[in-house]
Amino acid sequence: CHFCSYEEEKPLALPTYDALAQMEYMDMVLNESLRLYPIAGRLERMCKKDVEISGVFIPKGTLVIVPTFSLHRDLDLWPEPEEFRPERFSKKNKDSINPYIYLPFGTGPRNCLGMRFAIMNMKLALVRVLKNFSFQPCKETQIPLKLSAQGLIRPEKPIVLKVDIRYCGE
Ligand code: HEM
Repeated sequence: CHFCSYEEEKPLALPTYDALAQMEYMDMVLNESLRLYPIAGRLERMCKKDVEISGVFIPKGTLVIVPTFSLHRDLDLWPEPEEFRPERFSKKNKDSINPYIYLPFGTGPRNCLGMRFAIMNMKLALVRVLKNFSFQPCKETQIPLKLSAQGLIRPEKPIVLKVDIRYCGE
């Protein structure tokens, strides 16, 4: 195998859809990653007619911004919001999360069309990579991670990690 010293490369067994659905901790990690780093840091809606919501008048033609990034890190909504804690999304805890506050894929009739496809692909990619490699921070890793000030939520510089090759001949 070109990844490790095993003599022959085995065909990679990809998990089935059902097996992926059972990987609860990976789901929690993914949700927590999208909480801290929602790709779209804000959502936008154009107001199509004059409306009053909770005493706030919004005239037709107003662009309303929903600050996803800030909502995902609001101290009043998340205990220690800067901490990476997948347990926030455990079976026991996730039902208490308000769907209008946690919005990595937006919400309503115009939410992300590719949400399920994207989640499945991220999980498949993780399984595939973690089967052969493990990752550690190293001296080149930017800690704390700085985010780019422009456009989508992404790191300012590429994330550099130390990669270890796992023995993959099971
Ligand atoms: C991690 C990956 C992704 C994230 C975090 C993401 C996030 C989002 C967000 C926040 C919106 C705006 C939703 C709103 O305004 O309420 C959106 C819209 C959209 N996304 Fe994604 N997306 C992802 C992957 C994908 C993929 C893989 C596809 C297609 C296969 C896709 C297709 C779309 C489309 C078509 C819209 C516009 C929907 C509409 O306006 O009706 N997205 N996405």
